[in-house]
Amino acid sequence: MTTPPFDPARIPREALPALVQACPKAELHIHIEGSLEPELIFALAQRNGVSLPYASVEALRAAYAFTDLQSFLDIYYAGASVLLHERDFEDMAWAYLQRAHADHVAHAEIFFDPQTHTARGVDIGVVFRGLGAACERARRELGLSTALILCFLRHLSEEDAFATLEQALPYREHFIGIGLDSSERGHPPEKFARVFARCRELGLRLVAHAGEEGPPAYIESALDVLRVERIDHGVRCLEDAALVRRLARDRVPLTVCPLSNVKLCVYPQMAQHRLVELLDAGLCATVNSDDPAYFGGYVNRNFLEIFATLPLDAGHAWQLMRNSFEASFIDEAARARHLAAVDDCFRRFAAA
Ligand code: ADE
Ligand code: ZN
Repeated sequence: MTTPPFDPARIPREALPALVQACPKAELHIHIEGSLEPELIFALAQRNGVSLPYASVEALRAAYAFTDLQSFLDIYYAGASVLLHERDFEDMAWAYLQRAHADHVAHAEIFFDPQTHTARGVDIGVVFRGLGAACERARRELGLSTALILCFLRHLSEEDAFATLEQALPYREHFIGIGLDSSERGHPPEKFARVFARCRELGLRLVAHAGEEGPPAYIESALDVLRVERIDHGVRCLEDAALVRRLARDRVPLTVCPLSNVKLCVYPQMAQHRLVELLDAGLCATVNSDDPAYFGGYVNRNFLEIFATLPLDAGHAWQLMRNSFEASFIDEAARARHLAAVDDCFRRFAAA
C-alpha cells in the first residue's frame, strides 16, 4: 500500500466530514435509473400520462423497505416505467449530475439498463441521446467528466443481451463499457460468457456485479470467464481467503456501496459492514451510492455514514479517494491530475 503524503494522525476524526465534502472523488457504481427520486417519478408520470400504483410521493417512499435485492428491483423497475422520452432521460441524469457535483464528484462512470426501456418500446437511441445530453451539459457547465456503461440484465437471456448489443452498436462512441446487473442469485456470470467475449473483441471495458448476494465463486467466474476488470460490490469475497489474496495481488477494484448493502440486508447494520477488512487486506475498494434515490443518499452520505460508524481514519479516507481514481477508466493524464488534487486536499487538512 502506498504511504500517504501527510501524517494521518494530524487529521482528527471530527475533521473527516469536512474532508469528505471537500475532496474530489470519482463515482464508479451508480445506476442512473436508481437516481430517480420519488418527486421526479411523480412529475414524469404526470408529464407522460403514466399511472403509478402509489397514491403519492410519500406512499412510494414508504414502500422503500427492502428485504433483499429482488424486493428492491421490483420497485426500481416499476419506477423506471415513467421514462419515455429523451427529455425524461436527460432530466433524470442532469438531476444526478448536479447532486454529484455538489458532493465534489469530479468523474462519474454511470450504469444504465437499456433493456428496462427497450422492453417497453422505447428506442435505445432515445436513451443514448437523453443521457448523452445531460453528460455533455455536465462537462460544459460543471467541469464533471462522465462515461456510460451499458448493463445487461442478468435475469434475461444471453440472446436478449446479444440483441441489445446489436441495437447499441450504432451508438458505440456514446459508451465505454459493459456491466452485468439485476438479480444475482441463480444467474451466474457464465450465462453471459459469449456476449462478454464479443464485447471484449469490440474493445469495450468490462465490469460485472458479483458477490453482492451471490457466492464468492461468482466473483471468480466474473474474472475468469467474463474477464472483467472491476467487480461491482464483491463484498462476499471475504468468505474466501484465497480470493481476497488474489484480488489484492492483482489490484482488482471492488466498487462497494455501503448504504445499499445495509438497505438490501447484505449486512444487518452499518456497524457490521466489512469495508475496513477489505481495505486492511490491501484491496482497491471504493465507495459508491449504487441507487441513491432508494438507499438513503448520494456518495458523500455513504462516506459520512461509514466514517461515523466504522473504525476508519484519515489514512483510510485518503486510500478510498485515491482508489476511486485508480479504479476509474479515465486516461493516465487525467488520473495523475485527479490524484494530485486528492493529495493536495489531504495535505491542506493535515496542515490546518
Ligand atoms: N440494479 C440496480 N441496482 C442493483 C444492485 N444493487 N444489484 C444488482 N442490480 C442492480
Ligand atoms: Zn449496482
